[in-house]
Amino acid sequence: MLDAELAAAGRRRGTEMPRVLDVGGGSGVWAVPLAVAGCLVTVVEPSPNALATLHRRAADAGVPHLVTAVQGDTDALLDLVREGEADLVLGHGLLEVVDDAENALAALAAAAAPGGAVSVLVANRFAAVLHRAVAGKLVDARRLLDDDAGQLAGTRDPLRRRFDVAGLESLVVTAGLEVELLQGHGVVSDLVPGSVLESSVGAADALAELELAAATRSPLRDVAARLHVLARRPG
Ligand SMILES: C[S@@+](CC[C@H](N)C(=O)[O-])C[C@H]1O[C@@H](n2cnc3c(N)ncnc32)[C@H](O)[C@@H]1O
Repeated sequence: MLDAELAAAGRRRGTEMPRVLDVGGGSGVWAVPLAVAGCLVTVVEPSPNALATLHRRAADAGVPHLVTAVQGDTDALLDLVREGEADLVLGHGLLEVVDDAENALAALAAAAAPGGAVSVLVANRFAAVLHRAVAGKLVDARRLLDDDAGQLAGTRDPLRRRFDVAGLESLVVTAGLEVELLQGHGVVSDLVPGSVLESSVGAADALAELELAAATRSPLRDVAARLHVLARRPG
């Protein structure tokens, strides 16, 4: 989903590698494949355990020299990395867990180069309601639906908040970014039982095609498990 952005960054950089900053990058699920694809990646992440796994994963993939790990968090982001330097800044699975999503996104935006991109992937509050309802957890589904932040308060909900399309768009615009793409991830794929995929040859391809077609079409997009925004810092 970021290929076009990285190709454009590669063309802008000429002989240099595109620079990616992955904030809350965890153990490198995104960072390591991006390094393998030819990017210079910096991961800012508070968890030492996640960073240890990131180091191992980068070494196993043969790209330890392309991945820089920095222990820290969004509050101190601009003390840890240079402002306006990254071609692409990732905040995947991050805005749901930080203290203040608005401040965190403002820091991500400031770390992006003018004309650079910020990719944000977040959990969708309405998908969380549907998934609980389908699993028979009707009381939880109703509580999630009624909670302003889309959190299952009073439980061990690991997320502080979930987002909807309008709330996410407004957060991105408030951070001074221009929304270029807002699409759903996991519109239907998270709902289709595995038995359906095993039932016929070609079912997996058909599902992938359906998922792609639904990703940008409202209202299906609006109930995807995750919402993805690709936004641009004005140049
Ligand atoms: C759900 S994980 C996502 C990991 C990775 N981005 C991915 O998509 O696989 C959230 C990560 O954010 C990190 N995190 C939590 N609070 C943070 C903060 N204030 N600043 C930066 N990272 C934070 C957590 O330690 C965790 O690794």
